[in-house]
Amino acid sequence: MTGGTSGIGKEIARGLVRRGFHVGIVCRNELRAKATVDELTRGVRGARVETFIGDLSVQLDVRRVAASLLERFDRLDVLVNNAGVQLLRAKTSADGHDRMIATNHLGPFLLTNLLLGALEKGAPSRVVVVASEAHRQAGRLDVERLAEPGSYRAAGAMRVYGRSKLLNILFTQELARRMEGSGVTANAMCPGVVATGLARDVWGTERLGALLARTPVLRTPAQGARMALRLATEPQYETCSGGFYSSTPGAGLLPRVGALKDPELGRAVWERSARLVGLPSR
Ligand SMILES: NC(=O)c1ccc[n+]([C@@H]2O[C@H](COP(=O)([O-])OP(=O)(O)OC[C@H]3O[C@@H](n4cnc5c(N)ncnc54)[C@H](OP(=O)(O)O)[C@@H]3O)[C@@H](O)[C@H]2O)c1
Repeated sequence: MTGGTSGIGKEIARGLVRRGFHVGIVCRNELRAKATVDELTRGVRGARVETFIGDLSVQLDVRRVAASLLERFDRLDVLVNNAGVQLLRAKTSADGHDRMIATNHLGPFLLTNLLLGALEKGAPSRVVVVASEAHRQAGRLDVERLAEPGSYRAAGAMRVYGRSKLLNILFTQELARRMEGSGVTANAMCPGVVATGLARDVWGTERLGALLARTPVLRTPAQGARMALRLATEPQYETCSGGFYSSTPGAGLLPRVGALKDPELGRAVWERSARLVGLPSR
């Protein structure tokens, strides 16, 4: 899984460890990685947690991390793409893309593709993608320019974050279509609004978050992790694929956004993303 060092991801990792999974966590900081392993293994008999250091926004890192994962595990039961950022200021990734799109979409897209063989060997196996209801704020998606650095002024930052989460769901749907019959399933979910450090870049949110975390408005990271854990482990989801499961109260009443009803768009996003990370489209 990715992003197990804090927030929702740490609770997903904790849940997997408690269920007896041998967990590999992709994370970018050695010190936080060590602290996470110590915390997750303390008091759990037989706990097995390993970390793989790499920055998901850097394609070279993703390739290196995938290679070490494949050296260590020849088959995978579950891949949870959880890591993500919500940036307020525009930044460019090492590969020249918008950094929020590189972290939230291109990195997980590349990692998943590089691990597909191991997931196929582990079948029945599952890919779970932590997306968000924020995908509704993406605006119109220009596939050719999906990762171009652009303006974060006015509502721009929220639109780019929304776009990254829309791309998460389109990728999941297209992955589910491509893996049909292989025993590898793919589902996306929204954890609800959760008290984590995700919006630490946005002024005032830490204070507001600390206040709201004492009320039922914000969910705890453990609550936010619940649906991802169910999709990753419960027998009832073993054959479900291509779904988007939202834990945001009332979201089930909202209509699906048009982009998610268009398989051609999913295919175009896959092909464009493959070109951006240097993979052949298959
Ligand atoms: N919180 C919410 O209300 C909410 C709502 C909907 C969806 N989500 C989604 O939930 C997921 C987890 O977010 P969270 O709320 O738990 O936030 P968080 O506490 O900030 O956790 C984010 C995780 O992603 C990792 N990460 C960030 N950038 C990375 C990079 N370039 N390479 C590798 N790892 C990276 C972080 O690692 P470091 O420890 O190194 O920073 C951290 O482990 C995200 O995909 C987010 O979009 C959150």
